[in-house]
Amino acid sequence: MDIISRLSLVVKDCPDFPRKGILFKDIMPIFKDPDLVKDTCQTLVDKISEIEKPDVIVGIEARGFLIGPIMAQQLNAKFVPIRKKGKLPRECYSVKYEKEYGFDEFDMQIDALEENDKVVIVDDLLATGGTLEAAKMLCDKSGAKVIAHSVIFELEFLNGRDKLKDTPVISLVRYN
Ligand code: PRP
Ligand code: MG
Repeated sequence: MDIISRLSLVVKDCPDFPRKGILFKDIMPIFKDPDLVKDTCQTLVDKISEIEKPDVIVGIEARGFLIGPIMAQQLNAKFVPIRKKGKLPRECYSVKYEKEYGFDEFDMQIDALEENDKVVIVDDLLATGGTLEAAKMLCDKSGAKVIAHSVIFELEFLNGRDKLKDTPVISLVRYN
């Protein structure tokens, strides 16, 4: 079975979570299948490699942390976290943003990236694009170059790509 079918089979739709009107995709069952985790990360890594080899994978809290470090290992690249407000010590760049179901704020340490680092931003899912757009703003502040966004799932009907138009977006499973 191909990777898209394998992923589609295990993801669970959760209506009205975390609030009414949102159809939440529970991706946690993926992580009960080590082969599926490995193959998912490798498929994304192969697609990234077709663009360019990155120096750094920037993973977004929380679910970008589940696959980002694995992908960084597979690419022999560094891993850098973007965390929700107030979780990282030392000086940080910050950005407020809006996502599918609310507002939030991200931090990234100012010395996490070097100028001209080639970066791929990794998360689990692209919805409205507010999250990836905010993550790119933080990388831009460091002078790094974002060469791609990489997610497992994309909710195409929310048109998140429109916010990310200057940067390639890699996604495996697309819902429309
Ligand atoms: C979810 C999801 C993406 C984001 C996508 O994260 O994991 O990061 O929303 O939404 P957007 O494209 O509309 O910005 P969320 O911050 O809700 O939760 P998490 O901390 O558990 O990842
Ligand atoms: Mg998230």
